[in-house]
Amino acid sequence: MEKLVGTGLNQRGPRESPLIADGAPMQQHKGKWSNIMLLFVLLVVVAEVAFLGRLDVAKNAAFVDSWADLFHRSPANTKSPVGGTGNLHAGVEMLDGNSGWEAGSCEEWLEKEDRVVYSRDFNKDPIWVAGGEKEWKSCSVGCKFGFSSEKKADAAFGVPQPAGTASVLRSMESSQYYMENNIAHARRRGYEIVMTTSLSSDVPVGYFSWAEYDIMAPVQEKTEMALAAAFISNCGAQNFRLQALEALEKTKIKIDSYGGCHRNRDGRVNKVETLKRYKFSLAFENSNEEDYVTEKFFQSLVAGSVPVVIGAPNIQEFAPSPVSLLHIKELGDVAEISKKMKDLSENPKAYNETLRWKYEGPSDSFKALVDMAAVHSSCRLCIHLATGIREKEEKSPAFKKRPCKCTRGSETVYHLYVRERGRFEMESIFLRSLTLEALESAVLKKFNSLKLVPIWKEERPASIRGGDGLKVYRIYPVGLTQRQALYTFRFNSDSSLRSHIQSNPCAKFEVIFV
Ligand SMILES: *[C@@H]1O[C@H](CO)[C@@H](O)[C@H](O)[C@H]1NC(C)=O
Repeated sequence: MEKLVGTGLNQRGPRESPLIADGAPMQQHKGKWSNIMLLFVLLVVVAEVAFLGRLDVAKNAAFVDSWADLFHRSPANTKSPVGGTGNLHAGVEMLDGNSGWEAGSCEEWLEKEDRVVYSRDFNKDPIWVAGGEKEWKSCSVGCKFGFSSEKKADAAFGVPQPAGTASVLRSMESSQYYMENNIAHARRRGYEIVMTTSLSSDVPVGYFSWAEYDIMAPVQEKTEMALAAAFISNCGAQNFRLQALEALEKTKIKIDSYGGCHRNRDGRVNKVETLKRYKFSLAFENSNEEDYVTEKFFQSLVAGSVPVVIGAPNIQEFAPSPVSLLHIKELGDVAEISKKMKDLSENPKAYNETLRWKYEGPSDSFKALVDMAAVHSSCRLCIHLATGIREKEEKSPAFKKRPCKCTRGSETVYHLYVRERGRFEMESIFLRSLTLEALESAVLKKFNSLKLVPIWKEERPASIRGGDGLKVYRIYPVGLTQRQALYTFRFNSDSSLRSHIQSNPCAKFEVIFV
């Protein structure tokens, strides 16, 4: 079986439709030609040569339209060129002998015309990554890890790699400790694909997973005398965490320290179970790097112990609710944070407010961020590679010939492709007006009709899976980083969406549902 662009939803039988193509589309049918059709193709080629000669003289867009129209009809159904757009309706009615405008025909035509066969079927010929890998559940694109002497890998870890094999850097360490993990640095060394905790990397690898952190575990009574618990294994760090710890202690905040740094309690305990008894948890990372958020933070959330964070400057983006954490951005903040901790501990209602998300669920922004991990990073690497392979192929002439839009009367229908984040195959949608509202409603209509079960559904704790309805959080062009998709990129107006679609025929989008 060959893989086609999109999987048609409206698979009604092929039908001649009163369509005027915009541009000069050519057929790209492969696979089903009967001998008769082949003969027809030959005739058409002859006609095309003749036509192109005529076009040279005419240089008239209307001729192109009519040519396309003629081309997609039965050969007997020839017609003379249609003049301006104003005449299209009449011309079409006359030809079709059917005055009713059939809904969906532009869609069907585009579905057919824009369909191009990709040369590689990832089901038969999966993405191959040279490397050992634990098993992961499933992947929406054929994806294999391992070693093979016969097969050339699509990607492999380390540099350099032979031509045709993408070099991949994968690390969960902060780039402040391991300079090579800095994205720009890695690119200079020749890595094509960077997988780090940075949401700006090609395939981010975070610490979070729904399976590992039982985020919605119930809040327990805070029974400890000390206000906060700390599990800091070693005092050395490239940030000010040790100074902050000492400064906090000076403000008369009582801290139980279970780690190697300033230890005053026996460390042989279950960390999360222990944290549950404390109002606060010192989630002090060893470096303050964007997106570098480790188990220290997520375990505090599981425990329902309010994290006091030193670490990622953008930690607020990882907050399950805006008031769910305290952030020591710099040493000078210690006094203020210390006061907040005391105030909260003396005011049960205000303190409970910081944990309200534990009862009502985390924010959409939190879910949108951490749901990324519902798909294993190895699978996301394969999706990234396969997407790149298809994108490369889309630069070929066969793809350039796709009409991607269809004008009928005064109406233009645009053909776009969408997929859910974490999946590979694209679905077709059609827009009659290039507005953000129309895009979102087309996306919802499409995935509702497909009865899409979001890819994170089974991963999230049952209490925050939501109902059966789909809720769109973001729609963004395929190819953006997660940092762009979640935080920095927005189509800020209908006109920016319009210009994107107009300059990217058959534009591809990714959707995050929450
Ligand atoms: C905290 O608030 C939740 C509801 O938001 C409530 O169910 C719970 O009993 C409260 N706990 C305390 C200690 O007030």
